[in-house]
Amino acid sequence: MDGNGRWAKAHGVPRVMGHNAGMQAMKKIVIATSNMGIKYLTVYAFSTENWKRSTEEVSGIFNLIVKYVNSELEELDENNVHINIFGEYDMLPKASVDAINKMVGRLADNDGLVFNIALNYGGRDEILRSVKALIAEGKDPDGLTEDDISKHLYSGSAHFDVPDPDLIIRTSGEERMSNFLTWQAAYSELMFTDTLWPDFAPEEYAEMIESYSNRDRRFGGRKEADK
Ligand code: FPP
Repeated sequence: MDGNGRWAKAHGVPRVMGHNAGMQAMKKIVIATSNMGIKYLTVYAFSTENWKRSTEEVSGIFNLIVKYVNSELEELDENNVHINIFGEYDMLPKASVDAINKMVGRLADNDGLVFNIALNYGGRDEILRSVKALIAEGKDPDGLTEDDISKHLYSGSAHFDVPDPDLIIRTSGEERMSNFLTWQAAYSELMFTDTLWPDFAPEEYAEMIESYSNRDRRFGGRKEADK
């Protein structure tokens, strides 16, 4: 959800207000995703590298999580949204941990949109955790497969069992992956927009989904028509 800081600068307000505007944009995108009948959505809310930011900004983002839960939990439930957290969040302030646990618990039985929030998440960290879990299981290195690694990622069958992303959208003109779903993104389609995240509206999102549906995905193979 990139571009909150630049949005704040452009509007002459503190960075935290940019994140607040980003959260408002996120609310609309979540509901739009659910309405389009898309089954999975993952947002990158806080990376393992974001701790390097000022205490004010970091705690501002964590406070927004509490605000989001307080204002949106009813609507998320009405929309049958299920939430998973990709990342270890027990070291966040207690109010944020409590709010997250309340939200995840309340929505646990919902079977509509699966909304994954990557929080204190890093793609490399996730792969490392998977390898450590396999070593702890006593896995024989010679028999190790890609599926074994996948299994212990947050998206894996040992955790939330979410498929690899079909499409990754990056906002604000950045064109890099920034440690997002590093393993899972191997064959994802990528789309970029100069729009800053707080200005990213459901209309532009729907256009991107439409454009995605016209892409020809080969997963390393050949086009159907060439076979
Ligand atoms: C990146 O923009 C955005 C973030 C690091 C934080 C995003 C978090 C939220 C929108 C709040 C999410 C709330 C919930 C409930 C999950 P940036 O600051 O890097 O922007 P810049 O590149 O313009 O500086």
